[in-house]
Amino acid sequence: PYTPRPEDRFSFGLWTVGWQGVDVFGPASRAPLDPIEATYRLADLGAAAVTFHDDDLVPDEAEREATLERFGKAVADTGLAVEMVTTNLFGDPVFKEGALTANDRGVRRHALAKVLRNIDLAAELGAETFVLWGGREGAEHGAGKNVKAALDRYAEGLNLLCAYVKEQGYRMRFAIEPKPNEPRGDILLPTIGHAIAFINELEHADMVGVNPEVGHEEMAGLNFAQGITQAMWHGKLFHVDLNGQHGPRFDQDLRFGAGNLRGAFWTVDALLGAGTGAAYEGFVHFDFKPPRAEAEDGVWESARACMRNYLILRKRALAFRADPEVATALAAAAVPELDVPTMAQGESLADLRSETHDLDRLRLRSVGMEALDQLAMEHLLGVR
Ligand code: GCO
Ligand code: MN
Ligand code: MN
Ligand code: MN
Repeated sequence: PYTPRPEDRFSFGLWTVGWQGVDVFGPASRAPLDPIEATYRLADLGAAAVTFHDDDLVPDEAEREATLERFGKAVADTGLAVEMVTTNLFGDPVFKEGALTANDRGVRRHALAKVLRNIDLAAELGAETFVLWGGREGAEHGAGKNVKAALDRYAEGLNLLCAYVKEQGYRMRFAIEPKPNEPRGDILLPTIGHAIAFINELEHADMVGVNPEVGHEEMAGLNFAQGITQAMWHGKLFHVDLNGQHGPRFDQDLRFGAGNLRGAFWTVDALLGAGTGAAYEGFVHFDFKPPRAEAEDGVWESARACMRNYLILRKRALAFRADPEVATALAAAAVPELDVPTMAQGESLADLRSETHDLDRLRLRSVGMEALDQLAMEHLLGVR
């Protein structure tokens, strides 16, 4: 029952299984993995799609044509979709002080050109989402970055990219991926909320949404399920990066379900529409890093487990929502009452102001949240 199927729409970044374990304290702990081999392997495991940064797939520009040809054959052989493409604007030291928001204008122009080239590639491969993760867009110092000017340049970049996509007639939308820190000390657009507010200032705001990552919001101490629910409320959840994280610390990129397991349960519930029917309809994309301690067997085990954990949590979340005792507990907690507008049609504020409430009763009323939450906990723990 926990075997992935194409209709589950699982998707993986090629850089996830391809991560060799390089960190700030040591070099690679694993041999390089050919991204084309990884594509076949992910298809075998049950993925429906793959995604990549330009530099994951084409580390060597001299071999661009040949690599793309082999990759084209791999996706044709496996039937995998390329649902999203992104550009690496963080690895090359040329981007050490930012890419689209670097103080140096030449760097900004180089970054834009790199994105444009990969938008063309993304369109060629049929990807409909282009992710922008600005890991180097930020600062460690105060006066070294004029934040207002940086936001102007960020917006300028997005406006130019959107106009280009429109002009080319590509069927493509952009998704900004927020992150509070790492690698920069303080990254611009650090959370879902910052990103959405920024997007609303853009010329083609309808073409830009967010690609939130579980661990990034949790690094900031935020609730991921609530964050993506707000993104859906704005119509901005264009894509998602599922992984795991143990609270505010370095970006762990654990496999989905590891770390904050209860958070993962509510994340799946939120993606399924939290019982309201309005579900997330995009690909279920995993962006994790197999721990550096693992050898190659552990790489594939962690990839397999991302999908398996999602399917287990989906089963548990659906069972929670279908449980008649849960329906009773939701009613006891007055959850459905929140759907009722605070003012009725035709009422005036004078009506509201003249009303009296039994405040003593309201102060002492039961809210039933512990009972409701315990039902969720027991579904999660598999005892119901
Ligand atoms: C991270 C980021 C990156 C981006 C990816 C897309 O873990 O800090 O998630 O992995 O998602 O590079 O550009
Ligand atoms: Mn991350
Ligand atoms: Mn990510
Ligand atoms: Mn990541």
